[in-house]
Amino acid sequence: MSPEVSDIMRAFEEARDQGLAAVKEATDGHSLEAARIRILGRKAPLSKARAGLGSVPREHVKTLGMLANEVQTEIEQAFAKKARAFGRAERTKRWERERVDVTLPGDVPPAGALHPLTKTIWEIVDIFIGLGYQLAEGPEVELSTLNFDALNQPFEHPSRSTRETYYVAGRDDVVLRPHTSPVQIRAMEAQEPPIYVLAPGRCYRRDELDPTHLNQFAQIEGLAVDDGITMADLKGTLEVFARELFGRDLDVRLRPHFFPFTEPSAELDVECFVCRGSGCRVCKQEGWIEVLGCGMVDPAVLEWVGYDSERYTGFAFGMGVERVAALAHGVPDIRYFYENDLRFLSYFQGAE
Ligand code: DAH
Repeated sequence: MSPEVSDIMRAFEEARDQGLAAVKEATDGHSLEAARIRILGRKAPLSKARAGLGSVPREHVKTLGMLANEVQTEIEQAFAKKARAFGRAERTKRWERERVDVTLPGDVPPAGALHPLTKTIWEIVDIFIGLGYQLAEGPEVELSTLNFDALNQPFEHPSRSTRETYYVAGRDDVVLRPHTSPVQIRAMEAQEPPIYVLAPGRCYRRDELDPTHLNQFAQIEGLAVDDGITMADLKGTLEVFARELFGRDLDVRLRPHFFPFTEPSAELDVECFVCRGSGCRVCKQEGWIEVLGCGMVDPAVLEWVGYDSERYTGFAFGMGVERVAALAHGVPDIRYFYENDLRFLSYFQGAE
């Protein structure tokens, strides 16, 4: 055996020892990969030993070539085997780290619910939808003509003053509507009778805040205009509504009142659902609870929208949603509805 051949064989053996030693020394996936690049790279002992193959006598090339491949395969397999072992170990560690204890109690996310005022509006809307009414709406920023003039409000009426109604800055013809009644006008301007509409909406008033007054509140307006509508229709309709909302066997009564847009005008009272008429704290010893304002649409209002007031008659009503909701649920101060205190709001959760 020529000296070059034995030198090359030794070089391969050394490369093998180095390679296997490097595999052994690696302590994790990273150092193993670094070692693999080093041992199998171009400048590594194995490559250098291979380079020596070019100058050996022909008859030895085959044997040395086989040895070279054998060493290379052995080293590669050693690396691959250890890489698999590291991979398994790392996976096991990660699984351990990410282990989920399925026996732990879960976090129950707090469930949201409709706001009590929204529920009240929907409840009332449902009752009137059941009576054949349709929903209507109008803008919260309203023309003062529709809010006052069309509704027969006298020019000198205090509600027109800036002390009671919010006007849009620099304008005397645009207000934040103080009631939903202008929606009556818009509904009538949009169509001919018969009209049966219900209009819930937000309103604004320059009021001192107290347990029964807010600057911003919700009303529900109702309007019926048709051939031959009488006060009996008004009372019958509102009786159905009040009983549906407050209690089926309760009595209702109409008490004379005044509104510029109705003639005659009235307030609807419902028998106190707490004391049933004998007098208590809720009804302030009256035995009756005031629910809403109403009346027969004033012919002047019908004429304003161009209806023939000789042919058509109608009734209208308007109620404060906060007031009705407070009555129905025994809430002593309507400001609670806007404080967003979950202890208060969750009381209504699930209560339909
Ligand atoms: N707009 C009145 C208010 O805000 C409520 C009202 C009373 C509306 C009588 C009506 C009605 O439609 O007929 O106090």
